[in-house]
Amino acid sequence: MNAVIGDLPLERSIVLVGLMGSGKSAIGRRLAARIGMEFIDADAEIEAAAGLSINDIFEVHGEAAFRDGERRVIARLLAQPAHVLATGGGAFMDAETRKYVKERGISIWLRADFDVLLRRVSRRDNRPLLKVDDKEEVLRGLIEERYPTYGEANITVQSQDGPHEETVGEALKALRQFLENEPRVGTSDPPPNESP
Ligand code: S3P
Repeated sequence: MNAVIGDLPLERSIVLVGLMGSGKSAIGRRLAARIGMEFIDADAEIEAAAGLSINDIFEVHGEAAFRDGERRVIARLLAQPAHVLATGGGAFMDAETRKYVKERGISIWLRADFDVLLRRVSRRDNRPLLKVDDKEEVLRGLIEERYPTYGEANITVQSQDGPHEETVGEALKALRQFLENEPRVGTSDPPPNESP
């Protein structure tokens, strides 16, 4: 699939990073549809590879085994043709995964406010790290620990509390800006102010 944004070709995968509840899957799916790319959810791929839910992987094998599987699955996915990839909240915290993402993808950090995150993660009970008495405290800790690293993403987009399409629109705008400002490899065009 030859995806473009405006007239700019997209040759690398778009990788969504950010905390649980920031909307990586919901926004990623819509973004992929808008730019004509396949959407892949890394957590779903990990579950399929393990034949277990994320909750069960944590319970039966432990978090370290989950992180190993996550690293392997994301490396495999990033070797595939360009697509939109939603990653689990811990993926970009892994140095090796972060390196892969930087080499092979364009990363977008979906940054969301604490209240929005808390409301969203409270709706479901499918996240092992939040099976605790005090979700607020854990979430605050993760924000403090992870936000500086998420900040290494190529692009930061504020995950809006309104309709998903608003955030998708922001992501598209930011992507276009990023691609426009990127030095073009292999073009022999002279810089604009030196043209005849
Ligand atoms: C995790 C986030 C989850 C999932 C796992 C661990 C994390 O994904 O990968 O429960 O460490 O933040 P989402 O961010 O998609 O909820």
